[in-house]
Amino acid sequence: MFAVNCSQLGCSVQFNASARRFDCPCHGSRFSIGGQVVHGPAVYPLSHLTWQQGANPDEILVAGLSLPGVG
Ligand code: FES
Repeated sequence: MFAVNCSQLGCSVQFNASARRFDCPCHGSRFSIGGQVVHGPAVYPLSHLTWQQGANPDEILVAGLSLPGVG
């Protein structure tokens, strides 16, 4: 699982299903499906998030992410 934020300046990347990569709409960075930079200006990969199954089947817990009113 990756953070949705581009590693350049933090815009939200979008999954490009036909190209099987993540594209940043702000300055054109592209990331492989594994999160590696395939086109800049970003120079760092997308951040990996650590997660685990929650108590309910439809719940995941993401390390370092807290949501207001949850938990
Ligand atoms: S914020 Fe993504 S390329 Fe600049």
